[in-house]
Amino acid sequence: MLFYTKPVMSAEEFRLFQEFVADLFGIVIDEGRENYLVQKLLPRLEALRHGSFAEYYAHLKYAPNREEEHQRLISLITNNETYLFREESQLDIFAKVTLPALKEKCLQTGSRKIRIISAGCSSGEEGYTLAMILLESGLFLWDWDIAISGVDIDSQVLAKAELGVYSGRAFQTTPPHYIDRYFTKSSDGMQVRESLRRITRFSRGNLLNLENPFENETVDIIFCRNVLIYFSEETIGRIVAGFGRLLKRDGLLFLGHSESLARITTQFIPERHPGAIIYKKRD
Ligand SMILES: C[S@@+](CC[C@H](N)C(=O)[O-])C[C@H]1O[C@@H](n2cnc3c(N)ncnc32)[C@H](O)[C@@H]1O
Repeated sequence: MLFYTKPVMSAEEFRLFQEFVADLFGIVIDEGRENYLVQKLLPRLEALRHGSFAEYYAHLKYAPNREEEHQRLISLITNNETYLFREESQLDIFAKVTLPALKEKCLQTGSRKIRIISAGCSSGEEGYTLAMILLESGLFLWDWDIAISGVDIDSQVLAKAELGVYSGRAFQTTPPHYIDRYFTKSSDGMQVRESLRRITRFSRGNLLNLENPFENETVDIIFCRNVLIYFSEETIGRIVAGFGRLLKRDGLLFLGHSESLARITTQFIPERHPGAIIYKKRD
């Protein structure tokens, strides 16, 4: 009979994993969270038949197929919590203040193109929410070229985003008329309609070195909500500097309500609205 003793994580191994995860994904695993990490990683050690965390670490660092394992690791340690119409007060400002101003600005420059990134889009709810608000605003008719690009590091959630099928908690704050207008019933839940798919796309990317999903087109707005809380201040600074490079002059950055750029950068000017702060790129 084969006995399997559960490997124990040494302080040194914990430190190695902390560094690995921070270097590759930017995510900070706080001191004292050894148990959390052990619970997350044990199934992978068992699946790969590694007898110690050091062996698993070596696999992540040197195995020829290590990229595959990086994907599994990121799926294990990221928090993918999201839902449609999350943080309504901010979305309200987006609909009532940001979009009319953006249209005005576009018309002044003779452009009818809008480019938005949902950075850390998880399973797509944020991107589809923005698409619904844009369409519902009635500001941008057929002759506008609109694209919303969701980017995430976790390919498992991206597959769900591509599918666009949601149920239950995903709709917890969705006004019912949006469900009627933008979803159809499918066997597994409610599926986004073609009108949303047409202007929404998803791709894999790491915010630590984010490439422009629109290639050489500059971006009007970046939503990066409930993502930066998992990063160190130094990493946030680096990510936000990357956003600055992609955004147009006066481009906007929306963060989650518990996230702030105070003490991190002066590259963005906070604009205060009732229930929301929006960051505008400084000239
Ligand atoms: C909590 S979800 C937020 C989803 C959505 N923005 C919202 O507010 O509902 C955080 C997402 O950030 C993604 N993420 C974490 N680190 C990342 C990185 N370095 N690059 C890209 N995405 C990352 C995770 O995979 C996860 O799907």
